Amino acid sequence: MTSGRSFYITTPIYYPSDVPHIGHGYTTVAVDTLARWHRQAGDDTWMLTGTDEHGQKMIRAAAANGATPQEWVDKLVAESWQPLLRTLDVANDDFIRTTQERHEKSVQLFLQAVYDRGYIYAGEYEALYCVGCEEFKPESEIVDGAGPFEGLKVCAIHSKPLELLQEKNYFFKLSEFQDRLLALYRERPDFVQPESARNEVVAFVQQGLKDLSISRSTFDWGITVPWDESHVIYVWVDALLNYATAVGYGSDTEGFERRWPAHHVVGKDILRFHAVIWPAMLMAAGIEVPENVFAHGWLLVGGEKMSKSKLTGIAPNAITDVFGSDAYRFYFLSAIAFGQDGSFSWEDLSARYQAELANGFGNLASRAIAMVGKYFDGAVPEPGAYTEADLAIQQIVADAAAHADAAIDRFRIDEAIRSIWTIVDELNGYITLNEPWALAKDEAQRERLGTVLYTCVEGLRALAVLLSPVMPQATAKLWDALGVSGALGALLEQPVREAGAWGGVPAGTKTGALQPLFPRVEQPE
Ligand code: MSP
Repeated sequence: MTSGRSFYITTPIYYPSDVPHIGHGYTTVAVDTLARWHRQAGDDTWMLTGTDEHGQKMIRAAAANGATPQEWVDKLVAESWQPLLRTLDVANDDFIRTTQERHEKSVQLFLQAVYDRGYIYAGEYEALYCVGCEEFKPESEIVDGAGPFEGLKVCAIHSKPLELLQEKNYFFKLSEFQDRLLALYRERPDFVQPESARNEVVAFVQQGLKDLSISRSTFDWGITVPWDESHVIYVWVDALLNYATAVGYGSDTEGFERRWPAHHVVGKDILRFHAVIWPAMLMAAGIEVPENVFAHGWLLVGGEKMSKSKLTGIAPNAITDVFGSDAYRFYFLSAIAFGQDGSFSWEDLSARYQAELANGFGNLASRAIAMVGKYFDGAVPEPGAYTEADLAIQQIVADAAAHADAAIDRFRIDEAIRSIWTIVDELNGYITLNEPWALAKDEAQRERLGTVLYTCVEGLRALAVLLSPVMPQATAKLWDALGVSGALGALLEQPVREAGAWGGVPAGTKTGALQPLFPRVEQPE
C-alpha cells in the first residue's frame, strides 16, 4: 500500500570502534520512528543505518585490543551494533558497512567521476588532526590543553591532543562551492533544520571555505584512491557516500532513482559534514543534493555531551532491561525537543515512566478494556446518540492526528507525541467525569454506558495507530486486546494519516484481556 511518494531516511553511520551508548540509540530510534510513521502512512519508505568502519580511530582501537581492524569491526558490528537494533526495536530496511564491496566499488566510481570533472587536485598539506573527530580542525575548534595536556593544542570537542600531520594529499575544491551552497540555503530554507542549525551553517559558509584534504597516504585501512594506489580515501568522504551507495549509486540506477534524495538526521556535532561538504560533493558529481539535513541536540550527562571517551556513556540495555524498549523510545523522543540538547537522568526517566506511561496511557487502556469486558461481556457496545462531551473527544482525536502528522513533517517527534497525548489526558478525564461504573448500576443508562465505552475504545484505536511508530510493542498488545485485526487488519497496516477519522471499530468486536502495558519496575540502584 505505497502512495508512490518516496521517503528515504538515514541515520549517521556509527563508528564501531567501541560499543554503542544511549546517544547513538537516540538518533537511531528517532529515525526509526519517522520511518515507521511514513511507512504506516503508505509512503514508499526506506530506512538506512550502518557502520563507518575505516579511518585511524579504527586502526587504533583494533591495535589496542590486539586485533586487526577487520577483525575488530566484524566483532563489534556482530556483537554490539546489529544487536542494538533489536534491543531498540528498530525496523531498518538496510544496514550498510563501509567495508562491504557494494560500498567500496561505488565510492571509487564516485571519486573517479569527481576527479574527471576537475574538482580534485594533488597538494602538500600540514595541519592539526583530531583522530576522535577524524578531521583536520579549524582554528575555532583548537584550544589549549589543560592538566596532563598542558602546553599542547587539544580538540575542543574531545579535549585530547591534536596531531600535526604533514603529507601529500589529494584535495577537493570545496572552496568553489561557496556561492552554490549559499544559494541552496537561501532557496531552500528547510534544507538545514532546525533554524539554529541553518544559521550556524550559513554563517560558517559565509566566512569562506577551504579546499578539503580527501586522501591519506600514511596508512592503508581505507578505500584506495582509484587513480593512485598509494592513497586511501579520507574516511569522511568514504562515510558520507554510504547514503548513496546503499541505495544503488554506481550499481543500480533504477533503485537509486527510486530512493534518492535522502532525508538525513544527524547529531549537531556532524552537521557541517552533512550540510556543507556532502552537498558540495554531490554538486561536483552532478547528483541531486539531499532533501534535507536535520540536526538534533546532544544527550547530556552531568551537563556534558555524553560520550564513551569521557566515560559518561550509558549502555542502551541498561535502560531497556529495566523499562523496556518502548519506554526508551518514548522517553527520549518525548522528553527532549528534537533539535535541542537534553539532560538524561534516571529520576526523570522513572518519573515519566510512572506518570505518563503506567498511570496515563497504560491505565487508560486497562480500565477501558476491563469495563468493556465487565459490562458488555467483551463485545464493543453500539454507541447511542453522542453528547457534546463525546463530540469533543472526537474532535480532540481528529485534531491530535492532524497536528501529529504536521509535526512529523517538520521532524518534531516530540511535538507529535505531545499532540497525541492530549487524547490520553482528555480520555482519562472523560472517564472520571462520565463515571461508567455509576452508569453501569442503572439499567436506564445502558445506552449511555455503551456510548461512553465506545468512545473510549475508539480513542484507544486511534492511540494504538498513532503511537505505533513510537511504541511498537505496547501498541501491538493493545491492538490485540481491542480485537480489531479481523475487522481492520494488522496494526502496522493502519493508515496513520487517517487515524483521526471516527468510527473505525465495528460494534460487536470481541475484545480480549490486556496485561498491564507498563508494569511496575524495580528501581535501579
Ligand atoms: N561515523 C561518524 C558519522 C558518519 S555519517 C556519514 C560519527 N559516528 S559516531 O558514532 O561518533 O556518532 C554518530 C552519531 O551518534 C552522532 O552524530 C549523533 O547522532 C550520535 N551521538 C553520539 N553521541 C551523542 C550524544 N551524546 N547525544 C546525542 N547523540 C549522540 O560521527
